[in-house]
Amino acid sequence: MRALTVIPGQAGSLAVTEVADPPVSDGLLLVDGLAVGVCGTDREIAGGEYGEAPEGADRLVIGHESLGRVRQAPDGSGFDAGDLVVGVVRRPDPVPCGACARGQFDMCRNGRYTERGIKGLDGYASRRWTVEPDYAVRLDPALQDVGVLLEPTTVVAKAWEQVYAVGRRSWFEPRTALVTGAGPIGLLAAMLGVQRGLDVHVLDRVTDGPKPDLVTDLGATYHTESLTTLAEHVEPDVVIEATGAGSLVLDAIAATGTYGITCLTSVTSPGRRLRLDLGAVNRELVLENDAVVGSVNANLQHYRDAAEALAAADLPWLRGLISRRVRLEDAADAFTPHDDDVKVVIDLAT
Ligand code: BGC
Repeated sequence: MRALTVIPGQAGSLAVTEVADPPVSDGLLLVDGLAVGVCGTDREIAGGEYGEAPEGADRLVIGHESLGRVRQAPDGSGFDAGDLVVGVVRRPDPVPCGACARGQFDMCRNGRYTERGIKGLDGYASRRWTVEPDYAVRLDPALQDVGVLLEPTTVVAKAWEQVYAVGRRSWFEPRTALVTGAGPIGLLAAMLGVQRGLDVHVLDRVTDGPKPDLVTDLGATYHTESLTTLAEHVEPDVVIEATGAGSLVLDAIAATGTYGITCLTSVTSPGRRLRLDLGAVNRELVLENDAVVGSVNANLQHYRDAAEALAAADLPWLRGLISRRVRLEDAADAFTPHDDDVKVVIDLAT
């Protein structure tokens, strides 16, 4: 069957190649792939900067933002043929560490976790794939054309959970949130902020294209001024950083009001240097009881939360996030940025 594969560590190796059909195995769901989303992590893997093939293999099937339809489900698995499903990205480490042993594999302590399409396990960018029923999440059939947004929504569902967990150190009734970056993660973070009843502001550089309207249609406010100027009139209780731009990360931390919480969600590349007044950053964090928390990946609870959030969201708005769909055979085009891209999706069924 055809799959989108890459030799990890080798830029330019991304290709649609022939791979063996998934072995029909007892206990697994056999799924027809419908779509995979492409994100910054996939671009890093394609650029040879990230990713790890399964043990003994050269190539990795990429794709961790999945959507498929169950073709065959074992009896008693809780799934039926025809169900719309998403496969979970991460699997616990083999030891397992205390967090993985408790189902919190998103918080793995020893780094020996694996991730489908990213680290040591083939992903979902193939015409067919298999998944353990315990690592599959059923979606409302109405979400067929937007269900591929579930995985990025799990990432922000976890980010918001982390913000509230940190907030519970003391009295915490946030009213205003600032999201930096209007890419898919920023927009979905804004959507969850609006669903939580917050006054949400989104900051990005672009002044045209679909992003300003997507933010406004959500009931949030779109900004393009500098973060420092913006922070003068919006003192956010919460900042969700989703640009990964080093300088903005620091400005975001400084932008919060007292008892501000900044959640960093971007997996940035190392190597960007910046002159930094550490004394000022320290003073700001201490005197305001501020907190900065990093958040990555998602566990099964976040998948359930995200599935509920998508089911409660406005469908046409979610459809508007998917700005481009390409066929599997043209997958390389999904990795070339186009103006006005928001989420680019590879269609596996055509
Ligand atoms: C994925 C996460 C993953 C992270 C690091 C992100 O793009 O959404 O599931 O844990 O990359 O590999």
